Amino acid sequence: MGQRGWKVVNPAGSRRVVVTKELPGDRWLQLLTAADCRVEIAQGDDILGAPEIATAFASHVDAAIGQLTESWSADTLGALRAAGGAVYSQYAVGYDNVDIAAATRLGLPVGNTPGVLTETTAQLAVALTFAAARRIAEGDRVMRAGDYHGWLPRQLLGALIYRGTLGIVGAGRIGTAYAHMMVEGHKMDLVYYDVRPNEELETYVADYAAFLVAHDERPVACRRAETLPELLGACDVVSIHAALTPETRHLIGTPELAAMKEESVLVNASRGPLVDEAALVAHCRAHSRFRAGLDVYENEPALAPGLAELDNVVLVPHLGSASTWTREGMATLAAANVAAILEGWPVWRAGGGVEDARPFLEGEEPPHAAPSIVNADDLGLPRLAAGSPTKEDHQ
Ligand code: DGY
Repeated sequence: MGQRGWKVVNPAGSRRVVVTKELPGDRWLQLLTAADCRVEIAQGDDILGAPEIATAFASHVDAAIGQLTESWSADTLGALRAAGGAVYSQYAVGYDNVDIAAATRLGLPVGNTPGVLTETTAQLAVALTFAAARRIAEGDRVMRAGDYHGWLPRQLLGALIYRGTLGIVGAGRIGTAYAHMMVEGHKMDLVYYDVRPNEELETYVADYAAFLVAHDERPVACRRAETLPELLGACDVVSIHAALTPETRHLIGTPELAAMKEESVLVNASRGPLVDEAALVAHCRAHSRFRAGLDVYENEPALAPGLAELDNVVLVPHLGSASTWTREGMATLAAANVAAILEGWPVWRAGGGVEDARPFLEGEEPPHAAPSIVNADDLGLPRLAAGSPTKEDHQ
């Protein structure tokens, strides 16, 4: 491979920031330029390996913005620190590719981008749910192949997703947003599986049930499953929204698939290794009325042998957060994390919802704070207290 090209923005900046991919939008570059950063952006769509990333740090670097596709191991983070790096910011909300414990040991803050991708990713999971249940991709292939010869009563019959029972595995921000869309839009009963009870979600569904009753409609219900098999056996749709950890790898494998209803839908828009992909291929082969919608893969970008041949599986290339607003917002948050740490500002006061992200995305100048540092508490970084003045308040 030839020498990689690097684009340099604000070459006169006194702080050097290495960015491993071009990011969308301009605001992120404005933030870094305002923080006196010289921004060096790797060109090309191929994924940078650890040696190339470490080489890019050269003799001195102040910060790096990287991708979920790269390995930010103890070695890479150590190389960043050794070159003078004060912060690593991930262009994603998930950070299973980052050795957070090592970063903390090195005293290196790690930023991420929560809030801006919650609804976008939940919508993609909804889209996959219906694409799988209503056989959208198969229909598209029929049309493109010129195989549509007129309406037929039995052509491509799918599953009606209305009422019935929805299962979410992981009731965090994205799982909850997906549950709202499916419960409110399609009046499904909800079962969720999570280590923690989500009382806000339970109350919301109870309030929605009361609303339906007030309109002479049958209510919906919500409960937390004690065990995963209990959820899997009860649901018509199961969508996975858990973080990838050593404990959740292959959370869905052969026995779990066997516990699911014969004609149910499995959606995964979180992380591929949560599902044993070879087991899923075998299950989908043996159960033609079972359907799956996948945005993420066990060994991205590779697919398990046989997956692409299955008609009852819909596949998209990790598009969960791929709306322009969200991807530009993620760039802004990633850059704001870097700018804030380099400027010595505190970590933002709030909890990671879209409203918490909004002050960074809108207005002339964002708050003087880092939007999200995942190891802030372990590093003892100061937080902007609730109600503290933002930069806007100072003006
Ligand atoms: C994330 O942010 O973790 C998604 O997978 C990509 O946006």
